Amino acid sequence: MTRKILVLPGDGIGPEITAQASRVLAACQARGLDIEVEEALVGGAAYDAEGSPLPESTLARARAANAVLLGAVGGPKWDTLEDISKRPEKGLLGLRKELGLFGNLRPALLYPQLAEASSLKPELVAGLDIMIVRELTGGIYFGQPRGIEERDGQRVGYNTYVYSEAEIERIGRVAFEMASKRNKKLCSVDKANVLEVTMLWREVMERLAPEYPDVELSHMYVDNAAMQLVRAPKQFDVVVTGNMFGDILSDAAAMLTGSIGMLPSASLNASGQGMYEPCHGSAPDIAGQNVANPLATILSVAMMLRYSLGEAALAERIEAAVGQVLDDGLRTADIAAEGQRTVSTAEMGDAVLAAFDAI
Ligand code: NAI
Ligand code: MG
Repeated sequence: MTRKILVLPGDGIGPEITAQASRVLAACQARGLDIEVEEALVGGAAYDAEGSPLPESTLARARAANAVLLGAVGGPKWDTLEDISKRPEKGLLGLRKELGLFGNLRPALLYPQLAEASSLKPELVAGLDIMIVRELTGGIYFGQPRGIEERDGQRVGYNTYVYSEAEIERIGRVAFEMASKRNKKLCSVDKANVLEVTMLWREVMERLAPEYPDVELSHMYVDNAAMQLVRAPKQFDVVVTGNMFGDILSDAAAMLTGSIGMLPSASLNASGQGMYEPCHGSAPDIAGQNVANPLATILSVAMMLRYSLGEAALAERIEAAVGQVLDDGLRTADIAAEGQRTVSTAEMGDAVLAAFDAI
C-alpha cells in the first residue's frame, strides 16, 4: 500500500533543510519504498500566502497523510502580528492538537565524532543515548481554567496542571514499550512530593509496570532529574514525563549532545500517525545562506521510517549514512571545531546521499 508523506517546509531555514531531507526520501523511494510525497504551506509561509498559519487544505492533507515532515516555523517578520492566532507557531501547535500527537519522542544521542561539542566532559557523555518521552497535548500548557484576572485589587495569573488517568496511561504505554525495545530501564519523572496530579501519574505508572515485566521502572522528582542529567546522564535509558517537565528536561538533555542541529524528534498519535521535525527552530539568523545543518531533519526522516512506516532497516541505513559523513569529517558550521573546514547545507545533503547509496 502506498503511504502518504506530507512535507511542510515552513519558514526560515525550513525550506533549505527539508529540501535535503526530501532528497533522502526520494532515495528511499528509488530503493523501493512505496510512498507518495507532497508538499504544503504552514507557518509564516502559509500566513503570507493564505492569511492563516494552518490553512484548512494543509490540515486536511496532514490528516490524510501517514506521516508529516516539518521543517520549522516562525521568525521576526511575524512576531509583530497583533492577532496571536495568526502567528506561525500557532500552525505547529494546531497540527499537534488537531492530529492528537500526544507522544513526543526526543532522543538525546551523542555522536562520538562530536563528543568535543558537548557541554560536559567527554567521559561523562561518551556513549550517551537517552530517549525522553514527553506528553505533548495535556498538562499545564493546556489545562483549564487559565488566565490573568483581578482578585482583591491585584492581578493574578493562573494555570491548571491536570492529567486524566487515561492520558497518563497512554503516554505510559508508549514509554514502557520504548523501554522494552531498548535497554529495559524506564525512569518516570514527577513531583509527587508536592503535586497531586503527579501523585496520580506515579500511581498509574506503578499500575502499568506488571504488564511490562522486562522493564525496570524507577521514579525521580524533577528537580533531582535535572541535577542527575548534568551529573551522570548515562544512568538514564528512557525517561517519561509530562508536558512541562519534558519541555525543560529535553532541552537540557539536548545540550549534552552538542548541537541542536543534530537532534530529530517524533510526535505520535494513538493510530501511529506521526509528525517528525528537528528540535531546532527556523534560525532566522542564518536563513537563506545555505549554511544550516540539515542532519536533524534527515534524522527525523529516519524516525519517520521507524515509527510510522515500519521500515527500521531503511531508518538504520540513513543513520549509518549520517555516521559515515561525520566519520569522513564533514561539518556544517554549527558542529565544526575551531579552524575545521565547513560544508554547506546542500553539500552535507550530497554527502549523506552518497553515503546512503554506498551502504
Ligand atoms: P532556533 O533553534 O531557530 O535557533 C537557535 C540558534 O541555533 C540560532 O543561533 C540558530 O542559528 C542555531 N540553529 C538552529 N538550527 C540550526 C541548524 N539546523 N543548523 C545550524 N544552526 C542552527 O531558535 P530561536 O532563535 O529561539 O527561534 C527562532 C524562531 O524559530 C522563532 O520564531 C521561534 O519561535 C521559532 N521556533 C520554531 C520551532 C519549531 O518550528 N519547531 C522551535 C523553536 C523555535
Ligand atoms: Mg522547548
